[in-house]
Order: sequence, then C-alpha cells, then structure tokens
Amino acid sequence: MTYLPAAARYESMPFRRCGRSGLLLPAVSLGLWHNFGHVDVMETYRAILHLAFDAGITHFDLANNYGPPPGSAEENFGRILRSDFRGYRDEMVISTKAGYRMWDGPYGEWGSKKYLMASLDQSLRRMGLEYVDIFYSHRPDPDTPLEETMMALDLAVRQGKALYVGISSYSAEQTEQACRILRELGTPCLIHQPKYSMFERWIEGGLLDVLKREGVGCIPFSPLAQGMLSDKYLKGVPADSRAAKSHGALQEKALTTTRLQQIGELNKLAIKRGQSLAQMALAWVLRDERITTVLVGASRPEQLADSLQCLNKLSFEGEELARIEEILQL
Ligand SMILES: NC(=O)c1ccc[n+]([C@@H]2O[C@H](COP(=O)([O-])OP(=O)(O)OC[C@H]3O[C@@H](n4cnc5c(N)ncnc54)[C@H](OP(=O)(O)O)[C@@H]3O)[C@@H](O)[C@H]2O)c1
Repeated sequence: MTYLPAAARYESMPFRRCGRSGLLLPAVSLGLWHNFGHVDVMETYRAILHLAFDAGITHFDLANNYGPPPGSAEENFGRILRSDFRGYRDEMVISTKAGYRMWDGPYGEWGSKKYLMASLDQSLRRMGLEYVDIFYSHRPDPDTPLEETMMALDLAVRQGKALYVGISSYSAEQTEQACRILRELGTPCLIHQPKYSMFERWIEGGLLDVLKREGVGCIPFSPLAQGMLSDKYLKGVPADSRAAKSHGALQEKALTTTRLQQIGELNKLAIKRGQSLAQMALAWVLRDERITTVLVGASRPEQLADSLQCLNKLSFEGEELARIEEILQL
C-alpha cells in the first residue's frame, strides 16, 4: 500500500532550536537502535516510521552498528526511505554515528580518521543517501588525539557527506575541548547525545552548563531508561520486552527491588498528573530548556503514540518535582 504522510503532520509537534544553530528539531525524535534490525518485523517498524512522520517527528537517529545484525537498521531504514518516503528527504533530519566496533581489524572502531570516514561511506551506501544531516563521533577514543577525530568530522562536512556534526557520551571536559577544536576548524559542534533520564543524571553535573555556554544542542538517549520508566515491568518481565530479549541491552538484573519500588511510586505520581509514566518521564527530560529533544525508542506503534502524548502535559508543579526527587532518593 502506498503511504501518504498526514497533511496535519506539523500541527501539534513543537520544534526547538538546536543550540545556537539554524536547525530546529522536533521535541520528540525517534531512535533506531533496537527494533529496526533484520531480527525485527518489517511491517511493525514500517508502521512506527509512518506514525512518527505523521506526528511531526522529523528526526531519525541511527548508527553504523544498529541492528542486529550491525548495519541492518540502516539498510532497513534506507529501504523504507526509498519505498515510502521518496520526495520527503528534505523534511527529515537523519543522523548516523561511528565509534563502536563495526568490522574486523584495527580500523573497525573508535575514533581514527581512517575508521570514521570509511564507516560514514558505508552508512551512506546502506541507507542509499548522498549525505546525512548529522554525523557523530559515537564515543570518545582515549587513544586517538581528539584533534584527529574532530578533523574527521570536519572533513565529512567539507566533503558534503554530512551537514552538521555531533558527539556522543563525551564528558563535560572532553566536550569543551571538542567544541573548541571544531570551532577552530570552522565546523561548529551542533549537538551532544548523552544518556539521560530520571535514573541517569550525570549530565546535570557540568555537561549541560558546557552545552549552554558553547551553544550546543542536547538530545538525550534512553530517556525511558530503556523502558524501565514505564509501567511495563511492574508486574514482572513481559516476554516481548527488551529485558526479556537475548539481544536486548537491558538486563533483568537492572530491575532491583529499589528500582521497582521507585517505578511504582513514579507511576502513582504520573497517574495523578493524568499521564502515563512514560509520558511523565519524557516531559521530565524536556523540562530543562537546554534539552533540545528527547530521543525515544519504540518496539511498536502504540508505544510511540503513548510517548508522543507527553506533549499534552510538559509542565510540572514545584511539588511534583520535589516528589520525584524524593522518590529517586529511595
Ligand atoms: N549515543 C549512544 O551511545 C546511544 C545509546 C543508546 C541509544 N541511543 C539512541 O537513543 C535511542 C533511544 O534509546 P532507547 O531505545 O534505549 O530509548 P528508551 O526510549 O529509553 O527505550 C525504548 C524502549 O522502551 C520501551 N518503550 C518505549 N515507549 C514506551 C511506552 N510508551 N510505554 C512502555 N514502554 C515503552 C520499549 O521497550 P520494549 O522493547 O521493552 O517494548 C522501547 O524499545 C536509540 O534508538 C538510539 O537512537 C544512543
């Protein structure tokens, strides 16, 4: 069946400026780490992409290694781009990354120019794209000079293979240095992609201040702590959940008694606010104006539809924020 995007797709999605750049990103973006690989069901992830675009999600986040198997999320996304989204490329912001192990030998991971440039070429081929909108260094490399990694990002832009560049999981200090090098090279850092949720708050200890000062956007990944910040694990581990999947990155042992108690209390608060826990968790991440967009995942369209409703109630009373802090101290 031919897919025709919803005419009203820009009516309800707020767009937020990415740092001090010209680029606006939707408040909710979609990540393709899980659920878009060859192990997954095409009709399901195709429906997720349709729903996303219909709801005003213009930003799709990938990486060379997403699958499994690695590379297959880019292949599958590329196939659907060609079949369903032909003519809509200019309404999309597509990102990819390189940093984790992708092929054998010494040039298949980390932060050398050799690896990053080869990986970007492979990603473009898999997706069938001439360029990506954002190319990231996926993780800092302790052994490669930061200058070399940043020069590779700059080169990708100069070669027309990426429009903007970003970094992921760099510390506040590394981010400051990376931003300085990129600025000197003439390719400013657009965005940082860190892990951030109610359960993972390291970026509050300095990184967010650096991003604000440097004019860099922020797109937190795993804002639902891979699904823990929802009501799904309150009655055990569902068979189709990430914690139950052998290739899922969420381990059942993360669901400790304390975690489950926190999730239960947060769920009660969310219900009081008239939203699901997933919606409240996303609104909580978006409460800080330094956050550009939340990068969610979804294993089925209904989840994304639920998550998108966070936009109906983004604000918090002081008391609600205080209660969240209390629960997170449990
Ligand atoms: N830069 C990096 O190093 C890095 C690392 C990780 C992720 N990322 C990016 O961030 C994206 C998001 O990461 P993530 O998938 O971990 O994010 P997440 O949004 O925290 O978790 C997504 C998972 O939560 C569950 N879920 C989603 N919506 C739900 C809802 N409304 N109600 C109940 N459960 C819901 C689903 O799990 P089930 O499968 O259990 O249904 C879904 O697969 C990735 O796709 C990727 O683009 C980047």
